[in-house]
Amino acid sequence: MLSGPELAALRARFPVLRHKTYLYSCSQGALSDAVQSGMAAYADSWRTSPAPWDEWVGVYESLRAEFASLINASPDEVAIVTSASAGINPVGNALTFNRRNKVVMGEFEFPTMGHIWLAQRPRGADVQFLPGSGDAVPLDSYDRAIDERTCIVPLTHVSFLNGFRSDVAAITRIAHDRGALVFLDGYQDCGTRPVDVKALGVDFFVTGTLKYLLGPPGLAFLYVRREHIQTLSPTVTGWMAQRDVFAFATQVLDLAPTARRFESGTPPIPNIYQARPGLQLLASIGLQNVAAQIQSLTRAFLQGARDLGIACKTPPDSVGPLVVLRSLDAAAAIARLTGRGVVASARRDGLRFSFHAYNNLEDVETALAVLKDNLDLMVRA
Ligand SMILES: Cc1ncc(COP(=O)(O)O)c(C=O)c1O
Repeated sequence: MLSGPELAALRARFPVLRHKTYLYSCSQGALSDAVQSGMAAYADSWRTSPAPWDEWVGVYESLRAEFASLINASPDEVAIVTSASAGINPVGNALTFNRRNKVVMGEFEFPTMGHIWLAQRPRGADVQFLPGSGDAVPLDSYDRAIDERTCIVPLTHVSFLNGFRSDVAAITRIAHDRGALVFLDGYQDCGTRPVDVKALGVDFFVTGTLKYLLGPPGLAFLYVRREHIQTLSPTVTGWMAQRDVFAFATQVLDLAPTARRFESGTPPIPNIYQARPGLQLLASIGLQNVAAQIQSLTRAFLQGARDLGIACKTPPDSVGPLVVLRSLDAAAAIARLTGRGVVASARRDGLRFSFHAYNNLEDVETALAVLKDNLDLMVRA
């Protein structure tokens, strides 16, 4: 857990925190001085480097190694892409849907997960959505739906809609026992606590930099478990996915033996320059410390919301980072919060408050004070 002076020093690196109660990391993480310096470093390298691309390819490979180490993977199991969608698509389109054609996912997945697998229907995919019971998809539903015809289980680590955390280990066990693959979408969790894809045992993992990884939009990562890499040949591809990128062999398709085969064209170098300092900042805080800070703020906020009698979509024992409260008019509630300097977001009837290591108890109290003054806009428990 961060000490008071450590937290104050961390907060000083995020200028927005001087003016706002920033509880918006589930949409976009706050900008730090470190990440802002990354933008300047990119411009400097472009202006001064004698061979920018030589330098940039080195930086791109460094980022691959840094992200791999963050999730306990090997660099050659990681593809660098421009969005989570750009990571999920080449896997979806490389799989075949013959005897095993079922795709089983819960109803609280992020929309892109639904869309990409639904787009595989003309190729034979039979997509089945598991209905939630309240704001959770029960483990039993996965147990009943996953069978010897199931090809893959796309799974959100934490739902963007209600903060519900999936039981990844148990669902992965069920899927693997029946021969199905698991594709974990870690976007709403990665950067908030240690993640170990090997311990989780998932086959694919995707996340991006713009939320809890403290980086920019336009950059994401796909992990593919080593044994699957060469069994999959995406048809969404390009020159950067080839074994020898600089062979320039237009008439030869020779996919890389590493996860780079899931990439396509020129990598987003400016975003890579901004993402690295974000990852380095997280590593310097320590992900255990990040998790402890988020858990204590989440618990305090959940308790405060309960004391105000506000109905909550997120389970009461959540460790965070996302807490979603029920609102009668989420757009009006966001306007009131914004008016008092609280940055939050809304999805449907849910008001989303998300916590990161840079938040403090005062942020929790400020948000609760605004809610207390606007109970007319909230659903009561
Ligand atoms: C769970 C989850 N997955 C994926 C995404 C974004 O996907 P993409 O990078 O394709 O825009 C989000 C962003 O809001 C998300 O919350």
